Amino acid sequence: MEQESDFLTTLTAQLLCRATDGVARIPPVDHGTELDPFLLRLERYLPDLLDGMQRAYRSVEALAPWIEQLVDLMLAHHVQRPRELRLLDLQRALRPDWLQVPGQVGYVCYVDRFADTLGGVLDHLDHLEQLGVTYLHLMPLLRPRPGNSDGGYAVADYRAVDPALGTIGELEQLAGELRRRGLSLCIDVVLNHVAREHAWAVAARQGDVRYRRYFWVLPGRSQVEAFERTLPEVFPDFAPGNFTFDEEMGGWVWTTFNDFQWDLNWSNPEVLLEFADLILHLANLGIDVFRLDAIAFLWKRQGTDCQNQPEVHALVQTLRAVARIVAPAVAFKAEAIVAPDQLMQYLGRGAHHGKVSDLAYHNGLMVQIWSSLASRDTRLMTTALRRLPRKPSSCAWVTYLRCHDDIGWAVSDEDAAAVGLDGPTHRRFLGQYYAGLFPGSHARGEPFQVNRRSGDSRSSGTTAALNGLELALEHDNDELLQLSIERILLGHAVVMTFDGLPLIYMGDEIGMISDRSYREDPDRAGDNRWMHRPHMPWERVARRHARGTVEQRVFDGLRRLIAARKRTPQLHAATVVELLDSPPAILALARPHHLGRLTALFNFSETPQRMPLPPGAGPFDCIAERPVPIRVGQISLPPYGRVWLLAD
Ligand code: GLC
Repeated sequence: MEQESDFLTTLTAQLLCRATDGVARIPPVDHGTELDPFLLRLERYLPDLLDGMQRAYRSVEALAPWIEQLVDLMLAHHVQRPRELRLLDLQRALRPDWLQVPGQVGYVCYVDRFADTLGGVLDHLDHLEQLGVTYLHLMPLLRPRPGNSDGGYAVADYRAVDPALGTIGELEQLAGELRRRGLSLCIDVVLNHVAREHAWAVAARQGDVRYRRYFWVLPGRSQVEAFERTLPEVFPDFAPGNFTFDEEMGGWVWTTFNDFQWDLNWSNPEVLLEFADLILHLANLGIDVFRLDAIAFLWKRQGTDCQNQPEVHALVQTLRAVARIVAPAVAFKAEAIVAPDQLMQYLGRGAHHGKVSDLAYHNGLMVQIWSSLASRDTRLMTTALRRLPRKPSSCAWVTYLRCHDDIGWAVSDEDAAAVGLDGPTHRRFLGQYYAGLFPGSHARGEPFQVNRRSGDSRSSGTTAALNGLELALEHDNDELLQLSIERILLGHAVVMTFDGLPLIYMGDEIGMISDRSYREDPDRAGDNRWMHRPHMPWERVARRHARGTVEQRVFDGLRRLIAARKRTPQLHAATVVELLDSPPAILALARPHHLGRLTALFNFSETPQRMPLPPGAGPFDCIAERPVPIRVGQISLPPYGRVWLLAD
């Protein structure tokens, strides 16, 4: 079998060489403008672009000058697009599912925390390759404001890299090296706000009317209150309210997040043009995927929570069309941490189907994994996931267990009630459980943004800390250690089984515990999300090769899972997920596929569990690569056990 595949690889290479020689002998011809893909793509996507603008700004006629400018700037970027990236455009057009295939596995890290600089990241690519990573999300790296920059989400200059991390040239070099190694690069584009130090905000403060129109400035308290009535607060503890009075602006500036993050006014088409230009500029440096940060907040409408407004999707549709015309290799990833019924819009429903983002964070799955781990009960998870409408088959979820943000306990009252739980009580339980405040909790996280009235809180902490590794180390207890490692691997196994692109968060591959040193840094002390943004301790990473260490057990467990995922075609993101009935501690799901149905079972408890083998499931486990024992039609799962069973 292996020999045969070697033969095929060699034969393919020979045939491609032969064809390359043949093509090189074809005399150069004038291809003529009608064959320039730009024109073909403009013809194809201009209707989407115009439709998006029409929906966002109501009238396209009045926008004609902006649209002409937009076409000119697209053409300029098309001319500048490097040859290697044009080739990639063609390759990806031939593989439109490139982000959906099971071979894709992502990794997320901060440049400085992972490897100090962009050059350092280049030096550590072998670590990611050993793990099997094919997609790298580098956390905000464009030049932030000095001091507290909300982890880089307050950008002062989108055309420069943070000098502490490197230069634009180094970013381009890294993107090129990743591409040559078959990895793609994702970076954040922060669309909702800029740092108050950004040139646009500086010009606005200096009285430049053009730039003043880039922002929301309300003249008085009464206008602020009219909006505040229906607006939630994102950071009630350290940035209460949504507006900040600014002397120089002579009014209240819209600041949804921190007071130094100024919301942009997207009802001004000039802002759209700025970002179209920026996205194409970054795409031409070799960025593959843009994470659209805080995208839900883009459009403001009085009397609403100013999230998920229809214009948001229209604007993304326009930007997506712009990217498709100039740089079709590029994909969009929506960061919309919103209610399930709103979330699906970000993958394109109705008129926007297939026209907005290719990826969106599956916050609901992440929350439910942690909820089931705390309660040892998967009924809420199965119910909530069953209620989620089916995503478009051409898109993929971003599935993840942890990220740089806190976990907000987004469990709806309706889902909770459907399984006999009280929503507020369960949410409070989760906040307390993961802060280690609930009797018997194995977690060592911390509460984030506690709501004094309801007692609700969000949670901070690393995967390992929330899964009991810190507790096990405190007690020097092998049994607890084993259980925490199994929980870490179970969580990742679930994430790898769903219809998406799984992301591993930095340090989770070696079981990193939380880092409390942020408390010494005055710019960070007030924000405990820094406890789960640790520096990679490379001396500990080296222990992944020493048998029996925590690092080796977690790393090898994850590596094996990733390898298993890559050889399991059923995990393609276009394949539907069916949630099956199961005993309370087990999550059971199936991925029906033309190469055979895959049945996945996960034990969310520390006690062995049994269940009848679901119909259509065979005994062969693709993770362990061996058959599992079936006795009288029953399958047993060890504590936190997980299997991917192939059809008979
Ligand atoms: C996103 C980021 C978060 C940041 C916010 C404001 O939600 O994930 O870290 O605070 O946007 O940019």
